[in-house]
Amino acid sequence: MSHFPNGFLWGGATAANQYEGGWNEGGRGPALTDVTTGGTVDTPRMITWIDKYGSPHASPSHGFTLPEGASYAVLEDYYYPNHKGTDFYHHWKEDIALFAEMGFKIFRMSISWSRLYPKGIEEEPNQEGIEFYRNVFKELKAHGIEPLVTIWHFDTPLYIEEQMGGWANREVIDLFVRYATTCFEEYKGLVKYWLTFNEINNTIMFLDMAGAAADERYTEAYQILHNEFVASAKAVQIGHAIDPDNRIGCMICGICNYPLTPDPDDMLAFQRAWEKNIFYCGDVQCKGEYPIFARRLWNEHNVHLDITEEDLKILKEGTVDYYTFSYYMSNAVTTHEMDEKAGGNGVMGARNPYLEYSDWGWALDPKGLRYYLEVVNDRYHKPIMIVENGLGAYDTVEEDGSIHDPFRIDYYRAHIREMDKAIEEGVDLIGYTTWGCIDLVSAGTGEMRKRYGFIYVDMDDEGKGTMKRTPKDSFYWYKKVIESNGGDLE
Ligand code: BG6
Repeated sequence: MSHFPNGFLWGGATAANQYEGGWNEGGRGPALTDVTTGGTVDTPRMITWIDKYGSPHASPSHGFTLPEGASYAVLEDYYYPNHKGTDFYHHWKEDIALFAEMGFKIFRMSISWSRLYPKGIEEEPNQEGIEFYRNVFKELKAHGIEPLVTIWHFDTPLYIEEQMGGWANREVIDLFVRYATTCFEEYKGLVKYWLTFNEINNTIMFLDMAGAAADERYTEAYQILHNEFVASAKAVQIGHAIDPDNRIGCMICGICNYPLTPDPDDMLAFQRAWEKNIFYCGDVQCKGEYPIFARRLWNEHNVHLDITEEDLKILKEGTVDYYTFSYYMSNAVTTHEMDEKAGGNGVMGARNPYLEYSDWGWALDPKGLRYYLEVVNDRYHKPIMIVENGLGAYDTVEEDGSIHDPFRIDYYRAHIREMDKAIEEGVDLIGYTTWGCIDLVSAGTGEMRKRYGFIYVDMDDEGKGTMKRTPKDSFYWYKKVIESNGGDLE
């Protein structure tokens, strides 16, 4: 017998920049992801740009800052996987029918900001973009699927990045609020579940990925976060005023931290990893104020922020209704010399000898999911949704066209079992949307071969293929899981 409550929201998750495609259709403007090339597990994705003398360049995307006088550019010799994604823009009816066949109760997708506001600065939205999403939401509703909409999933309009300096600039708060207000007004009655910022904590969590970042970078990162917190809190208030039925959540990249050893120094490092990487953002968005440890984090890097009294009031009054997070892996923290580093989503922790690792170096740890759920349940006392979880893996298409993915089924089975136990122990878990329920472009590497889907999409790393959709074995398995409300995991 499972412990999933009646009405549990089973489904899948995607993001516009990785799935939607149609990057220059329907009046859409470009986003940073449109000038980002593909990479691999060993080679970084590159951002392409032109310097002030007109010479083209490609630079690793992590930590990239556009030099003075330069501009972003799409260059001929490069392939940009996000331009096409896996083409939801032209396949949405077909894809939604497949999600319905699996029995989805909820489907997570994001709106591309630059499809509604091509540069981000316009007074009025692009009507063609508005209608595109309206049709999608209507189609989902017609199939009895609740949309779960992320307002920002890594895709600020390129104009804002290039001409305004992106989120470090406070003026972007109002532009985002205008965009979010449009979403709430236009889709009132069609969309009830919203998330403001996807994995908002990435800005700080991955800052040291390419070596210790300078204090100025820390100042910028904390200011970006502050501006996003204020934008999110304003959006929450406006969303509630427009429709009191709206449920608006935060979204945290949920990496579960462990100490590698019982050395007290490792315990402190472990505690600080939770504070800096996970609680800093969750606390502001759920509790409406900065945690006490924030001051210590800022002092460590000599950070002085532009925070007004008015901002603090907005944060207080704009707390989220529920807590959501992505979960892929855990991370072992140590102050000791590490023999072998674990790869993985940029968090360069120690390799945990008790865990197996994916082909992309991510620690596979279903129990870490239960641990994480219990920690945030205790801390926030809010409903929780897991809005991303999944295994990026290679798939093989058999001669008869079928795709057997028992490894993916095993992965999900183990994680769902831990969710069940967490609910039994009192965690208020209300929904689960698996990541990349249909194959899409990897955010980290830009690859297609790193597949997460229950549905295979015939496209390769160079964008070649028919785009044909084919259910994998896991498709039929997940359908059974949903039908039995988590009771039948075999
Ligand atoms: C999360 C993001 O970090 O992880 C998604 O919200 C992303 O956008 C997912 O796709 C998996 O990461 P990757 O690098 O395997 O695509």
